[in-house]
Amino acid sequence: MPPSEHVFDPRALDVEGQGGAPEVEVESRLRPRSLDEFVGQERVLSNLRVAVSAARGRSEPLDHVLFSGPPGLGKTSLARILSRELGTQLHATSGPALERPRDLVGILTQLGRGDVLFVDEVHRVPAAVEEYLYSAMEDYSVDFTLDAGPHARVLPLPLQPFTLVGATTREGLLSAPFRSRFGIAERLAPYPVEELDRILQRSAQILGIGLDPEAARTIAERARGTPRIANRFLRRVRDLAQVRAEQRVSAALAREALAALGVDDNGLEELDRRILAVLVQSGGAPVGIKTIAAAIGETEDTIEDVYEPHLLRQGFVHKTGRGRVVTSAGCGAIGVDPRTLRGEPGLFS
Ligand SMILES: Nc1ncnc2c1ncn2[C@@H]1O[C@H](COP(=O)(O)OP(=O)(O)O)[C@@H](O)[C@H]1O
Ligand SMILES: [Mg+2]
Repeated sequence: MPPSEHVFDPRALDVEGQGGAPEVEVESRLRPRSLDEFVGQERVLSNLRVAVSAARGRSEPLDHVLFSGPPGLGKTSLARILSRELGTQLHATSGPALERPRDLVGILTQLGRGDVLFVDEVHRVPAAVEEYLYSAMEDYSVDFTLDAGPHARVLPLPLQPFTLVGATTREGLLSAPFRSRFGIAERLAPYPVEELDRILQRSAQILGIGLDPEAARTIAERARGTPRIANRFLRRVRDLAQVRAEQRVSAALAREALAALGVDDNGLEELDRRILAVLVQSGGAPVGIKTIAAAIGETEDTIEDVYEPHLLRQGFVHKTGRGRVVTSAGCGAIGVDPRTLRGEPGLFS
């Protein structure tokens, strides 16, 4: 079943109670709607602007686009923006939803000329379905098998020219032939604090929150380079302001709300600290991802996609051939004296 048939009424999920805007609705209100509203990622945006305007000029569909990068950086937003800028329909699905070739064919035949087919988690498209995508992407045609057994016939089914926009947190898991069929491949990088600051100002304006500049900065510094996290923190900070009947969010209030969420000054949350603790417990010896996953009760994928990038970027963790090791900065981040680790000589040099 294509996800477009999946009817979801966000009002059924009024998690904030008292008739306030539900979280899902807030998230969609905060989504940038155009390339001009999209903050940061300048190089990516300028490449997309050129490609979109050239495609429109030639009245051709945009080349297939692959967005990669950690969760919450704006991949889905950009896919939606592209279809809006092209003035065509967006059809959204995801790798795991395309279980059988027939699921894909069902969606492909609905596409109008120049439409965008957004495939989230594109690295999880099953291999059998991937084969079908190749001809769809290259020749705008798929082979459709009619009947089964000895009477089976294969008919080429022509499609409207379309643009596949894939999003992935794991570019490395995409097969080389698949990746090479995307004419445009853009990797989204974590946002610097100044850009998260601007995103927060924009979100505060949309949500009608009085946010002191220093408060925006405080949130931005702890948001791990990720707009989705920044917006989530902003909503929690707003809750505290509301409960305290404060008209504006001050830096002190922001700090207090984040501390109550278990977010420390480095932007680390409970699970990050538990990962560091596991590495400390090994006495500084490398620990495999499987062991970490078992110890903290998370999947390996979640650790690698969600938690590890920030820990690596902050220099709290090193990746080695034999596993992950905690650095002395990582020890410091959870209040452990690195000299108490047995460790390997030279590790903390
Ligand atoms: N560049 C940006 N400018 C403004 N808001 C952004 C930006 N990127 C992401 N966001 C915010 O973060 C949220 C998550 O973005 P999304 O596109 O869903 O990320 P991804 O698909 O990469 O996980 C969006 O709803 C939006 O509010
Ligand atoms: Mg997404």
